[in-house]
Amino acid sequence: MTTPDLAERFDPLSSRRGAEWWRTAVIYQIYPRSFADSSGDGIGDLPGVTAHLDDLSDLGVDALWLSPFQRSPQKDAGYDVADYCDVDPIFGTLADFDDMLEHAHGRGIRVIVDLVPNHSSDQHEWFQAALSAGPGSRERARYLFREGKGRRGELPPNNWESVFGGPAWTRVIEADGTPGQWYLHLFDTSQPDFDWSNEEVREEFRRILRFWLDRGVDGFRVDVAHGLVKAAGLPDYTPPADAASMGGEEDDVPYWGQPGVHDVYRDWHGILAEYDGDRALCAEAWRPTPDDTALWVRPDEMHQAFNFPYLTTEWDAAELRTVIDESLRAFSAVGAPSTWVLSNHDVVRHASRLALTAENPQGHGIGPLSAGKPIAALGLRRARAASTVMLALPGSAYIFQGEELGLPEAVDLPDDARQDPTWFRTAGERYGRDGCRVPVPWSSTEPAFGFSPTGESWLPQPASWAVLARDLQQDDSASTLSLYRTLLAARRAHRLGAGALEWIGGFPSDVLAFRNGNVTVVANIGDAAIPLPQGNVIAASEPLDGGELPADTAVWLENA
Ligand code: NOJ
Repeated sequence: MTTPDLAERFDPLSSRRGAEWWRTAVIYQIYPRSFADSSGDGIGDLPGVTAHLDDLSDLGVDALWLSPFQRSPQKDAGYDVADYCDVDPIFGTLADFDDMLEHAHGRGIRVIVDLVPNHSSDQHEWFQAALSAGPGSRERARYLFREGKGRRGELPPNNWESVFGGPAWTRVIEADGTPGQWYLHLFDTSQPDFDWSNEEVREEFRRILRFWLDRGVDGFRVDVAHGLVKAAGLPDYTPPADAASMGGEEDDVPYWGQPGVHDVYRDWHGILAEYDGDRALCAEAWRPTPDDTALWVRPDEMHQAFNFPYLTTEWDAAELRTVIDESLRAFSAVGAPSTWVLSNHDVVRHASRLALTAENPQGHGIGPLSAGKPIAALGLRRARAASTVMLALPGSAYIFQGEELGLPEAVDLPDDARQDPTWFRTAGERYGRDGCRVPVPWSSTEPAFGFSPTGESWLPQPASWAVLARDLQQDDSASTLSLYRTLLAARRAHRLGAGALEWIGGFPSDVLAFRNGNVTVVANIGDAAIPLPQGNVIAASEPLDGGELPADTAVWLENA
């Protein structure tokens, strides 16, 4: 199936087998609620995205991934979908989506959308029908309803916990007014899990994929891609106390990484292959190692998977070397590119995470009472160095909106502004993810820093962000924005995404040094400056003077 003009708008070379765009692309994550608000209601929207496409072109990204904008009551910021084939009015209309897509494609920028197949919203018509239809019905069989344990079914069917805290089961009141069956929700109570052993569910998602593919999207980021299939019999499971909160970092969990989940993606692979333009699937599968993650990108499954082992690696040269090696080996063993990512809408922004002074388990977030708050200046310095390393690695890289401005986590959000279900389901014990979701500052002087024309903002922006606003960074050659622009342009010019990494020896153990084609990358992760190696400087994460490479600084050199 061909989408009009798609083939002509992009580099024809990029669709050669083995050279598909998604193997090397820099993909920019837009979190629509927080990107740009055109309507003035304080929530970002699709016309806001369209209005800033020139800024994204100027930054030099190849593709956009949009977090969910489909119809949703927004109990989990859109990851609770009530209608998979419509745009939520807070974000605009389907016509706004088409307009955005056309203008992105017109600039040679591809667009992938979020697909949330593990669960729907409890407001989805299927779930509402399941509630009315009662036990044993075809409607209930689309979800995971079970009888409770105990004499009167008053105990949940098993001991599973929700990723957001609390039990993973909720009991419903049946039509006759009595407490009845329980339904499974690995996340919030408003997010009932589908039963993927039901062919009707599979067929519905084929329809949803085709709906967006027919509109011309270039692919999908697949939410909770490790969770769709549950172990037969839904056996009890108790996670270790320190389990990562997005889940999936442990082995042998009856709801993560079940072998049957891969059949779903083999099926979807075939659907995408019916279309032109190398449409792609990217798995959000939180797995402990690159080898585990690579199972999602075997040749007949998805095309990319987020490299969470890389994201969760400390700012430590030896650990980075290991995870980079393991990633390149594991993904290339299945013919897939490695991906690289440092920030997204679920984790503490890397400009803060890399300078935390105490343990902060994934998903817990940071708030006014957290121990070990990050040291801001050190965090920004390390983030700039870490991004300078990441963008030189072969494969495809993801950037989360605002990291190109060096945005830190908002660590002082007031309790009454918080919206993440994690915060509510743990009674404030975990702050959750709001701190990385604060709207982007575009202008240092306008209300809401130019995010919205009325000054409204669904989460308050820290006053200190005025100096990080895009307008101040635009023409400042020392800004983080200028650094990203330089890195992306040079990455493209030197074809680093399609390159190969070769480590360079002879440096102290806390220095990371490698060659990719004719670019040499040296990152000083230690405490003391080292002599700057020979070569023309293409980009440096900090000013270089005196022939030295300072601590927490990375540089790209054109090989002499
Ligand atoms: C992963 C998404 O990235 C996250 O934001 C969401 O809360 C969960 N999946 C549930 O959909």
